[in-house]
Amino acid sequence: MRILMIASEAAPFAKTGGLADVVGALPRALARLGHHVDLVLPRYRGITGEQALGRVTVPLGGQVADAAILSATVTDGVRAIFVDHPAYFDRDFLYGVADHDYADNAERFAFFARAALEWAAASHLRHDIVHGHDWQAGLVPVLLHRGLAPHPRLRAAVTVFTIHNLAYQGIFDASWLPRLGLGFELMHANALEYYGRISFLKGGILFSRVITTVSPQYAQEVQTPDLGFGFDGILRHRSADLVGILNGIDYDQWDPARDPHLPVPFDPSNLAGKDAVKRALLEQVGLPTDSAVLARPLVGMVSRLVDQKGFDLLATLGDELARLDASFVLLGSGERRYEDFWLGLAARHPGRIAVRIGFDEALAHRIEGGADLFLMPSRFEPCGLNQMYSLRYGTVPLVRATGGLVDTVENFDPPTGKGTGFTFDEYSPQALLGTLRWALGVYQDRAIWRRIQAAGMQQDLSWDASARQYVKVYERATGKVAQPPSDPATEERDTQHGIRQTEDPH
Ligand code: ADP
Ligand code: GLC
Repeated sequence: MRILMIASEAAPFAKTGGLADVVGALPRALARLGHHVDLVLPRYRGITGEQALGRVTVPLGGQVADAAILSATVTDGVRAIFVDHPAYFDRDFLYGVADHDYADNAERFAFFARAALEWAAASHLRHDIVHGHDWQAGLVPVLLHRGLAPHPRLRAAVTVFTIHNLAYQGIFDASWLPRLGLGFELMHANALEYYGRISFLKGGILFSRVITTVSPQYAQEVQTPDLGFGFDGILRHRSADLVGILNGIDYDQWDPARDPHLPVPFDPSNLAGKDAVKRALLEQVGLPTDSAVLARPLVGMVSRLVDQKGFDLLATLGDELARLDASFVLLGSGERRYEDFWLGLAARHPGRIAVRIGFDEALAHRIEGGADLFLMPSRFEPCGLNQMYSLRYGTVPLVRATGGLVDTVENFDPPTGKGTGFTFDEYSPQALLGTLRWALGVYQDRAIWRRIQAAGMQQDLSWDASARQYVKVYERATGKVAQPPSDPATEERDTQHGIRQTEDPH
């Protein structure tokens, strides 16, 4: 199959989170199975292409803008295709500055979606599948379904849409529609309308043939009011076409036996190297390295500092954390209040708690390598990659039982000695603290701890199995009779979707 993959970030070109890791690795895993992937990305600042493929013109709300198209070979069977339009993408950040999204994100990603399709049509390649990721690619299936795709052959391609995080919905004022070259008929409950505004994510969900989420557990959770973020009705409506596929991890990037960011390699049969990594990590972040500190469990965190990741729970625990028999190292950036909390904590307990604010790929690898426990008390977690990196690196994950964390971490069971980590259910500081105390206690029994580490390190987390499931989804999608969403122009408002409209668009 030839797959046109469209996403707003992919490692190693541009990364703000796990989306980039997944979109970086999945095409290569598909190529290993014999498929071809053209991965279209915006050309952000700093990205260089190897080859100029020409230009495309993109109609956008009565105006025509053009983009240069560049390409780079990623590996055999995978090409990155960059949409170059400096006014939109040559900026300091991908989506916005600090807490503020760029004001023209609707236009930037509408342009991107159209440019991707224009290129695919101009390329004369026959793409069997058009696979978009998250709201930034949400208009891709909408454009294809509305017949706005530039070439009839492309209109026959089957659309697959992956939700990495339902909390980001690409919501904009409806007045954008004409400026994006879209009609007001899309301002409908069966189309883009969402509480009186428009949602790109909703377009992706309603207009794609198959929808996937990044873990089986999350595929269930998004259909509940609790974790559906207002989209549970829409997703229940499409549940027959909704599939959860667990992300894999990229063993080329995340393998403790050959990770260039680790000072010493290690593997399940030789964990001595892990102690050396711990010492180097403590040194790097300025924590003491005397034997008492080396013997004390080191708790690691690498995260966006946002509510999703459970930082409100940690903030409630406050100085209590420093009274535990553990040291902490945190790498992250995000909301100011959480950055300030952790910087304050580190200032008050310099021998116990080290904090690095920022994005640092090398340090992220060292924390995965050098910590004993990895903390991820997420409020919700579509999949989560860090707990999988931790399993691979013998760093026992302590997670809240939600989303992909349920699918990847098995709670330690003392009677049988089975398990790969520690999990807690209730989203409360007490449940987190209790589980942390329990895990720190278990750590004292080195034999049991080694067994938990070994069980995690042996888990198969590779992309191969996941990529095969995507292929199954592609096959199913192409073999299936087309079931486009009902036509907004003729349909009554569909209240089944569970969406209340604040005003009638007609
Ligand atoms: P999410 O995508 O929700 O942030 P994931 O666990 O899926 O969570 O993926 C996060 C990815 O981003 C991981 O590869 C993680 O190592 C990386 N990451 C997050 N914060 C940082 C940071 N401050 N520095 C380096 N890498 C980070
Ligand atoms: C999102 C989710 C995260 C997931 C990642 C990759 O950022 O928050 O849980 O692992 O996408 O799919």
